[in-house]
This record gives sequence, structure tokens and C-alpha cells, in this order.
Amino acid sequence: MFHSTLLYTLPVALLLARTVFSSPANEPSVIDEFITTQGNISIHGIIANMGPDGAKAPDAPAGIVVASPSRSDPDYYSTWTRDSALTYKALIERFIAGDTSLQTRINEYVSSQAYIQGLSNPSGDPDSGGLGDPRFNVDRTTFTGGWARPQRDGPALRTTALSIYANWLIDHDGQTQALDTIWPIIEKDLAYTVRYWNQTGFDLWEETYGSSFFTLSASHRALVEGTTLAKRLSQPCPGCESAAPQVLCFIQSFWTGSYIDTNINTNEANEAHTGKDASSILSSIHTFDPAAKCTDATFQPCSSRALANHKAVTDSFRSVYSINNGIDQGRAVAVGRYSEDLYYGGNPWYLTTLAAAEQLYDAIIQWSHQDSVIVTDLSLPFFRDLLPSIATGTYESGSSTYGSIISAVSTYADDFIAMVQKYTPPNGGLAEQYDRNTGSPLSAVDLTWSYASFLTTSHRRARKVGPTWGEPTSNTPPTTCLGALACSARITFNTHVTNSFHENVTIVGQLDQIGNWGPENGIRLDGSKYTSSDPLWYGDIDLPAGTPFEYKYIKWTSSGEIVWESGSNRKYTPPLECGSSGIVNDLWT
Ligand SMILES: *[C@@H]1O[C@H](CO)[C@@H](O)[C@H](O)[C@H]1NC(C)=O
Ligand SMILES: *[C@@H]1O[C@H](CO)[C@@H](O)[C@H](O)[C@H]1NC(C)=O
Ligand SMILES: *[C@@H]1O[C@H](CO)[C@@H](O)[C@H](O)[C@H]1NC(C)=O
Repeated sequence: MFHSTLLYTLPVALLLARTVFSSPANEPSVIDEFITTQGNISIHGIIANMGPDGAKAPDAPAGIVVASPSRSDPDYYSTWTRDSALTYKALIERFIAGDTSLQTRINEYVSSQAYIQGLSNPSGDPDSGGLGDPRFNVDRTTFTGGWARPQRDGPALRTTALSIYANWLIDHDGQTQALDTIWPIIEKDLAYTVRYWNQTGFDLWEETYGSSFFTLSASHRALVEGTTLAKRLSQPCPGCESAAPQVLCFIQSFWTGSYIDTNINTNEANEAHTGKDASSILSSIHTFDPAAKCTDATFQPCSSRALANHKAVTDSFRSVYSINNGIDQGRAVAVGRYSEDLYYGGNPWYLTTLAAAEQLYDAIIQWSHQDSVIVTDLSLPFFRDLLPSIATGTYESGSSTYGSIISAVSTYADDFIAMVQKYTPPNGGLAEQYDRNTGSPLSAVDLTWSYASFLTTSHRRARKVGPTWGEPTSNTPPTTCLGALACSARITFNTHVTNSFHENVTIVGQLDQIGNWGPENGIRLDGSKYTSSDPLWYGDIDLPAGTPFEYKYIKWTSSGEIVWESGSNRKYTPPLECGSSGIVNDLWT
């Protein structure tokens, strides 16, 4: 199996044919210069926001990275699991590529995350959902303010960052550190992901409650690489292997046929919200695998689906920002989160504009790797924006059309960087947003994630990639989606209920398998062993392994009336292992 954890540079097969259809806003050399200067500013920008010595994060202890030094309007002076994981993923890649000065900081990140995982917080205790809390105070204490919680992408993203590091350690005589220090963190994050992937939560923008494409894509990647890492370390990873294909199965439902609808299972009232959202581009770049082909099922950056989606999402911003006025189709535009966004008035973001470039650089790497570009009916409109006369077909490397495609896509990607350059202030500070009308920086200053995006985008432009996460052997969804029940545990419920002969007792609760709280959809228990001294009602029910839920018992009187148990809901979590069993003994209250 392909398992190099070394960062490598793919051969440059770039043909420098210039297309007549679009000329870059800046010459490549101007972009190169910007990348050198802004790259340096970005790495320093990240370090300034980090403990223990960050100039802009004076009270952050080692390993903690603040989202932004901004303490009001907006207050981002906290640490987010997501932003930290994506930032350290970029730093770990950079460390593996040779910047050994980063290893101390990476080890500090590892310790800080082990600590934070142990905090009880409004999302739960460490083993009952707390890992899904998105935001912590800079001093490593629980953030108790009201917030959009839980957010289930954090544990998965942290698994990815830490797995890349753990694999590198195993390859460099660091097996003990990988096993004793890093695996315990990953193990908890994976247990969280196995338990909760099939439940709703808030999306990465902390606005929409439902099932998020970004969260599930990150979960799929984490489960796949976690399974492999567990095997390398000879550790169990209960439920990981059976959950991964089910997550992939579910992810297929986000595809509308022409773009990715980024949030489903929502109770969103806003009909105007199309679901076109740059978080789908962030998903493609996060799950980019340099060893993958252009797989549609995993939405790889060069897949027809991801390219059609790139066009749908970027086009959705063409008419909404005045700074995009007059920009022709096929030329880069300023990209925000989603066109209906109202946060700070709804503006382009640096990290989403950079992501639009990064997906294209990733695609170029994948095309070079597979030595061809395939233009399908689905991706044709994307390619036609760049090369108006192109037709569907397979273009082998070495052909002139292949060369024109690579050149046009590189130019288009550079054009997104030029857009960022145009709206970056002279000191290189990257805020969260830039104004839709004037292009001036807006909202949080020095956003760590903006700087991290700059690093990853410029790495990909230079054809520097991280290790494979195993996409080539994990890209086929099963034909039937079973959800969390793909890994079930058989639970025996024994409850003692004194009632009259011929009355029934049912169990009903939070899961589909026990009726989703619909009294008439519960499961009837067996009263055949009932005696006056042992009034037993019992039943075996297959439930999703490791998934906590609430329930109650109901008595049905002979006249058909129902009587609910009094008191608060009962709670139970089946064991995590697929095919395991459990026994619950209850007494009617
Ligand atoms: C990189 O940035 C740091 C901090 O902003 C600065 O001191 C240094 O001179 C820069 N180095 C280069 C090569 O530009
Ligand atoms: C759980 O998975 C099933 C099967 O893929 C899917 O239909 C359902 O919408 C999922 N629900 C949530 C909340 O993830
Ligand atoms: C109770 O059980 C009997 C059979 O034992 C059944 O005929 C009846 O429909 C049940 N009533 C309810 C409310 O489930």
C-alpha cells in the first residue's frame, strides 16, 4: 500500500503554452514574488497568534493558537478546535517538508489537545460529547458562553493533523511517541466520530444546524486514516472500519446533480438558500489525496463533480459583490462563504478565495499524476469558461490540448491569488474578510486560518503535497446506506413494571429503532415471563453501537390509553464494538 509519509514534489509536466482566452491579472513572476513575501508574513502571522511566545497572543500557553487577536467586534480571542487543527495540519506538512524548527510547537499542540480533550463543557463530558465543543478559552478553560454547539468536525480534523504527524514519527523511530502520546488523543477523537457522525450538529460556519458536507467529508477521511494508523500501531479502532464506507455513502446525498448542497437534514426556513457554499471547496481541498484519481465519489479536486461545483460556487459570487463587476467568465472573482451570507454584510473572505485557487492547483497535481485530463459532460462548462472550443474527451499528457488545459487552469488559479494580492493591505495582514464594495479588510484582523490558507495554497502551487490518506482504497460507497446502524450492538432491556394482565409495555425514545419518541412506533416488550413476584418485561433490540440516546417506557392500558413513565428521560449508550451486546435493567418509575 502507498504509505510514504514524506512530503514530495511531483514532476513538473507543465506546458507553458499561453491561451489566448485569458491572460492573468499578474505575470507568474509577480505572483511568485507575492508568494515569497506573503508566505513569510503568513508563517510569522501564525506564530504571532500562538503560545507560549506569540506577540499577539500574550496569554496563550504553549500549543494554543488563537483564532485572531481581535477581542471585540468580533471577539475571536479564543481557540477553536477546527481552526487549530487546520493550522497545525499546514505546519505539520511544512515540518515534514524540512522546517524542523516547528517540531517543538507541534509537540506543544499535541499536549494542549490532550489537555483540552479532558474538559467537561456545555457539549458534554469528555466521554459523552464534550469533544464536539468548538471553542475554548485561550487559557485552556471551558468557554461557557452561548455558542453554536456541538460542531462535529473538530475531532475529525484533529485526527487528520495528528495522524500525519504520527505516521511521520513511526517512519522516523518515533513509534513510542506515536503510540503513547498521540494515539490516545486520536483514539478519543475517532470514538467521537464513530458515535456521532450520523447525528446533526452545527456546520463549520457555526450557523446551520443539520448534516454538513464539510463535517462528513472530514469524518470520512479521518476514519480511513485512523483505521490505517490503528493497524500500524496494532491498536483497535472500534467501529472505524465499518463507519467509513457508511459516511461515504451518506455523503453522496449532498450531490444535487450539478453542485454540492452543503447542508442537508436542516430545519432551515430560508428557501432562498441554495446550498452553494465555498465550504464544499474547502472540503475538496481538505480531502485532496495526491495518490487519488479524479474520483467523483470522494469529490476529489479534479473530479467532474468538484470542478462543476467550483464553477457553480464561484459563479454564485459574480453578481453579488460590486468588486466583481465587469470580470469576465473564466477570470477569477472574489469568493465569500455563500452568496446569501449576511455576516458583516456578507463579504468575500481571503481563505475562501484562496481555496478556489488551491482546488485548481490540487487538480493539476492529480492530472499530472494520472497523465491525462478527462473532460466529461458534467465538467465541460467549467473547462469551456477557460477554453471555449474544448470538447468532452480524454486528453493524454503530451498532447497539445492537455498542455492548454494545464496552462489555462494554472493561469486561472493564479488569478485567484492575484485577487487576494489586490486586496491585501501593504503590511500583508490577512483579516477574515474584505469589503464587497471597496475590497478593504474587514472583521477579525490577522485571522490565523487566513494565513494557514495562504501557506497551503502556495504549497500546492509549488506542487508540494502531504501524504496520501488512503483514498484509492476507500473510494467506493456501498450500494445501500445503513447510517450508524451499519455497526450495531444488541441490547437486552429488562424492565420491571407491575401492571395488569393484558396491558402492554413499550420502549420508545430518541432513535429511529425505538420510534423516535412516537408512542405508537415504540417496540413492544415481551411479558411472557411476567410473574407477580418478578414483573418482567423484556426485549432485544439492535441499536447503533456507541450512540448515546434517551428513552422511556410506556404502559398501554387495556382500553388503549397510554401512560408514560414519570421522571426525566433515561439515558443509555450501547457499547462501541460492532456486534457487541449489552444488558439494561430498569424499574418502572
Ligand atoms: C519575514 O518576516 C519577518 C517578520 O515579519 C521579518 O522580520 C523578516 O525580515 C522577513 N524575512 C524576509 C526574508 O522577508
Ligand atoms: C444517517 O444516515 C442515513 C443513511 O446514510 C441518512 O439517510 C440520514 O440522513 C443520516 N442522518 C444524520 C442525521 O446524519
Ligand atoms: C397489547 O398486546 C396485545 C396482544 O398481547 C395486542 O393485541 C394489543 O394490540 C396490544 N396493545 C397495544 C396497545 O400494543
